[in-house]
Order: sequence, then structure tokens, then C-alpha cells
Amino acid sequence: MPKKTSTVSPVLPWKTRILLSFVTVGMYLVRRRNGTINRRLLNMFYLKNPTTNKPQQGIKTTDITIDSTRNLWFRLFIPTIISSDVVLPVIIFFHGGGFAFLNPDFKYYDNVCRGIACNTPAVVISINYRLSPEHRLPSQYDDGFDSLKFLDETELDGFPANADLSMCFLAGDSAGANLAHNVAYRAGEVEFRRLKVIGQISIQPFFGGEERTASEIRLANGVLVTLKRTDWLWKVFLPEGENRDHEAVNVTGPRAVDIRGVKYPETMVVVGGFDPLQDRQREFYDWLKRSGKEVKLIEYPNAIHAFYLFPELPEASQFMQEAKDFVHHVSAKFSK
Ligand SMILES: *[C@@H]1O[C@H](CO)[C@@H](O)[C@H](O)[C@H]1NC(C)=O
Ligand SMILES: *[C@@H]1O[C@H](CO)[C@@H](O)[C@H](O)[C@H]1NC(C)=O
Repeated sequence: MPKKTSTVSPVLPWKTRILLSFVTVGMYLVRRRNGTINRRLLNMFYLKNPTTNKPQQGIKTTDITIDSTRNLWFRLFIPTIISSDVVLPVIIFFHGGGFAFLNPDFKYYDNVCRGIACNTPAVVISINYRLSPEHRLPSQYDDGFDSLKFLDETELDGFPANADLSMCFLAGDSAGANLAHNVAYRAGEVEFRRLKVIGQISIQPFFGGEERTASEIRLANGVLVTLKRTDWLWKVFLPEGENRDHEAVNVTGPRAVDIRGVKYPETMVVVGGFDPLQDRQREFYDWLKRSGKEVKLIEYPNAIHAFYLFPELPEASQFMQEAKDFVHHVSAKFSK
């Protein structure tokens, strides 16, 4: 019988395939039967990048603590080869990992943020929020929002003088994009002193619902994201007794927050044709439009979930360019 992989996965370079299998096996091994994650085991094969005081790719990084009692901190990516009279937008980034995995110092996220900071150019702030199952909803959302408040209120040593907090973008992928959306509408309801969220880069946001969508069924055993895995992630993220029609999961469903009257930043939604979550992401795009928000849809028909983490995939560099154009396009409307 011919192999039927072509229907659930595009042709991928061997390097990407090996890494994906490694991650898939890893995620399986660290999940205990009793619903907890074996973080000790996870740390044994976790790939970390240290901070770089000496610039790499024209970017230097430092880690800054917001609140040590909940291990809330961020990695700051500063472009060093940009002339100091160029005003830089600030991109606040939330990594993916199903709300349960990964951190800003994870090799692939460190690389992506470095890439975005260098390519745009922009100051990137990658937030280390609390993870499930140890911390459930709303810890992640609170950490996201509190990070904005901290940035608004704190004069940071070493924060570049040419970084403009009134040109702030929220960005996130997968669970991080779900988090960014939540922070975006919460931020729309308050007045910050100097910080202003003007745009959002929503990369393959992680949403769900009790009812399965066509793409979830078609790609149920696809790359990285499977129904079994996402069901587990929602279960350990949601308050006990809640189901996937909770407004944090089924964001466009009947329990959805009404954002029509809320200030919400101009958004680009990125969708991949081999991502089981694609139907929900398009629904999210439609819902934002129906709610009267400025939103743009970017489709990569051959992209798997998390494609942007793999620089060997052509869509990764296409995305970098698209994100850069978006930031420039939105910034131009707001620059003084
Ligand atoms: C789950 O199992 C691990 C290892 O067997 C144990 O250390 C942990 O306390 C258990 N947690 C719960 C909530 O049962
Ligand atoms: C959202 O929730 C409602 C029920 O509350 C359900 O009918 C609908 O199918 C859900 N949407 C998705 C995409 O799961």
C-alpha cells in the first residue's frame, strides 16, 4: 500500500522531520499518567540558548525579572547595529507550547525572537509566563497583562532610549497567540501611561471547542498537533469541570467575549494549510471582522503548525518578511 502521509503532512526536509519526531516523543515521555509533567526529565533534553551580552546577528539579549514569586520574567532582544536616532517599535512576544511547555530561552524561540528583532528591526520582549498543569487559567493571561503594566510603569536600566512603547505590538504563536488575543482586549479596556498596543501578530492561534472542525478531523493524526494532545492540553489548562466551549478556548462561540465596543489592535492572522487548527483560525479572523476590527489573513497552504520555528522551511522567511511589512505598515499610521 502506498504511504498516505501526503494527506496529513507536506514534504518536509529530513532535518525538520527528525526534530519533529524528537519533540513528539519528548512530549509523550514527560507526561505522567496522573496528569502532571515531569519537568526534571524535560530539562534533561531541553535545548536552551543563554543570553548574549556580545551581539549575535546584531542582537544582544538580557533576562529581566518582573515578579520572582511567580517566576515571571522576560528576555529582552535589543538591536545593536541600528543608529540610535531610528525609533524602534516594541514587540511583546508570547511563545507557544500549549500553555504547558517551553520558555523564552528555548533554543528555537530564542532564535525566532532574535530573527524578528534583527529583521524588523524592533525591540522584542519574550515573556516567561506560568505554565499548566501547575498553573491553570487565568495565570497565563494575568502574567501576560501584568507584563504590559510592568513595562508601562517601570524605568528599566538598559532599555534602549529609541524604543517607543507607544508603538507596541503583541505577537504570539499557538497558545501564545491565544494569550496575546486575551491580553489585547484587556489592554483595550485600560489607559496605560505611555504604552500603547497598536498591532497584533497572531500566528496560528491555539483555539478549540467541543465540536470537532473539518480540519481537525482531516488532520487528526497530523504533525505535532493531534486531537489527543490538544484535548489533554485544554484539560490541564482550564479550571476543573470546564469544557472546551469555555470562552478561552471556543473564543468565537456563544460564550465569547463581546469585543465590538473594545479598542482592539489591527491584527494579522497567520494560517497553515497542514495545521488541524486552521478552521478555527479562519473563524477567528471572520469573528474579528464581524466585530468591526481591522484584520488581515495570511495563508501558507503548505505550512504545518509551528513552521516558523524551522528556518529551513521557505514559509519561515516569507513570514518574517510579512511580519516586518505589517509592523512598518501599522507603525506608519501612528508615528509622530
Ligand atoms: C504524580 O506523580 C508523580 C510521580 O509519580 C508524583 O511525584 C506527583 O506528586 C503526582 N502528582 C499528583 C498530583 O498526583
Ligand atoms: C462553540 O460552542 C458552541 C456551543 O456552546 C458550539 O455549538 C460550537 O460548535 C462551538 N464552536 C466550535 C468551533 O467548536
